[in-house]
Amino acid sequence: MQKKRTHMVGELADESFVGETVVLAGWIAKRRDLGGLIFIDLRDRSGVVQVVFNPETSPSSHKAAEKLNLEDVVCISGIVVRRPVDAVNPLIPTGKIDISAEFLEVLSKSKTPPFYITENLEVDELLRLKYRYLDLRRPDMQRNIILRHRLTMAIRNFLDSHGFIEIETPMFIKSTPEGARDYVVPSRVNPGRFFALPQSPQLFKQLLMVSGFDKYFQLARCFRDEDLRADRQPEFTQIDIEMSFVDRDDVLNLTEAMIVDGIEKTLGVSVPRPFTRISYAEAMERYGSDKPDIRFGMEIIDISHMVENCDFRIFQNTIEAGGRISAIVAPGCNDYSRQQIKELEEVVKSFGAAGLMSISVTHGENGKPDLNSPLTKFLKDNELENILQVTGGKDGDLILIVAGPESIVLESLGRLRLHLGTKLDLIPKGKMAFLWVTEFPMFEMSQEEGKMSAVHHPFTSPLEEDIERMETDPLEVRANIYDLVLNGVELGSGSIRIHRRDVQEKVFKVLKISEEETKEKFGFLLEAFEYGPPPHGGIAIGFDRLTMLLAGRNTIRDVIAFPKTQKTVCPLTGAPSVISKEQLAELHIQLAEMDKICTDGDTERLEITKGL
Ligand code: AMO
Repeated sequence: MQKKRTHMVGELADESFVGETVVLAGWIAKRRDLGGLIFIDLRDRSGVVQVVFNPETSPSSHKAAEKLNLEDVVCISGIVVRRPVDAVNPLIPTGKIDISAEFLEVLSKSKTPPFYITENLEVDELLRLKYRYLDLRRPDMQRNIILRHRLTMAIRNFLDSHGFIEIETPMFIKSTPEGARDYVVPSRVNPGRFFALPQSPQLFKQLLMVSGFDKYFQLARCFRDEDLRADRQPEFTQIDIEMSFVDRDDVLNLTEAMIVDGIEKTLGVSVPRPFTRISYAEAMERYGSDKPDIRFGMEIIDISHMVENCDFRIFQNTIEAGGRISAIVAPGCNDYSRQQIKELEEVVKSFGAAGLMSISVTHGENGKPDLNSPLTKFLKDNELENILQVTGGKDGDLILIVAGPESIVLESLGRLRLHLGTKLDLIPKGKMAFLWVTEFPMFEMSQEEGKMSAVHHPFTSPLEEDIERMETDPLEVRANIYDLVLNGVELGSGSIRIHRRDVQEKVFKVLKISEEETKEKFGFLLEAFEYGPPPHGGIAIGFDRLTMLLAGRNTIRDVIAFPKTQKTVCPLTGAPSVISKEQLAELHIQLAEMDKICTDGDTERLEITKGL
């Protein structure tokens, strides 16, 4: 480079630079050759600026500019000049000025990129991931990654100023109890033995409490082998926190303050506190979900007692079987056709409901609404009136009803609510609705294993007042768990932990984990708990999910520099790849279908990476 850069292009938005000579460096984002003048847009991380090459004032740089291609890297020096009023571009911050070029050096040439390096481009994601370094050059992706950095800094500073200490915990560990499959790493020096990569630093952060660190945090990398979705990656980052001598509200208040501060520092938006708090039971009852999106209403309403004595067989049978009948009201949908209602029925059916009934409400005579529904034949006038009253159904509405076992009714109506919320455009854009969901059940019946399993993990404390019920009524025991939800996305989860040995033993008993098994799996933690464990609790916030929501994106892949695809591959590097027979032998590993998977040498790739 013959000259040294003096400014980032974005700095020149300030008109005080007019008349100064500047040296800029970056990529060619646009080029227009108007016969005489050549205009280019020069891009760096801070934005773009227009550079003008004039054959009369600077013939040599004009000549060099004739050969420029998109994405070539150049260094330019020139004078900052004010644009004529009619040439001002209000869409870019530097739109009032140009750089009148005096010097141009081409630092490197670029091939034609596989896609344009522009804002919000519609390109196949696989291609974007294969050329991720170019995708990350696009201004919106740069903004996402920079937002992520700002959020990291805000969180680190916040926690540091509140007395937290960041401590790294190991990546090669013994399995953690988060419930997904582990990624494992073979140990060459310990044949036949494997490390697990941490699904979270859970047990280590609890050990750090035993060590007396009191307030721990870590921006922790976690690894989970599970089915991927838009908000799930095999490796992701948590803001992992643990605190000693605290109760639930201390953890919730600290977390809220940290997130509100992070949003203020990154987006400049102030979010009101405290966040709404509801119990798990209430969340299920009102929204049919443990992570409700409360940006819109359309709550689920129980109408069982309105119809318990009616003549309609399905309702009678449901009540007799101990089930329930509930409804939601879809505003402005009273003119839905049979076909449209059928489509809504498909939604509830896919979550196990037997069917969907509807009542369409229109303006009737004498101020009484007119009801159109197959149910009017079976229900008495006062029953229908009661339904209208409790649901608040009025002219224009469509009341949608599901009958069946409680869990199916709530879940299917909850899903239908979300479906309609999007379809009817009821979700206000730009709104951030935080919600704490507390008091989750401690145990659930695992259908797969046919035994009780812990909803969170086995070190979660039950609510003090429920400890007694652990032996008699385990499914009724509530745990001191709290989930943070933002706009219907589970952002984080945590709990107050057990620090009393007798309580821990009761939990293992319910889970039918034998003493041997506990020793083998978590012996080191239980042993540590014999040396004065302080009462403690913590939380982990999904950092990628938080960044995704702040960036207004639909997938966490857009806020991770180098993510994996839905099939857990990296199209850029081709990972995961085959390793050589020699490497396998060194690790004492023999593959079951060696010949099918890998041929000799380490250069062969798995078929899967070709199929991308
Ligand atoms: P949990 O398993 O609920 O709790 O995880 C906490 C948060 O991490 C995020 N998360 C993920 N993000 C992206 N991809 C994934 N595959 C993924 N899995 C989880 C979610 C989730 O809410 N040790 C406990 C926390 C504690 O008790 O302190 C834990 O890890 O946003």
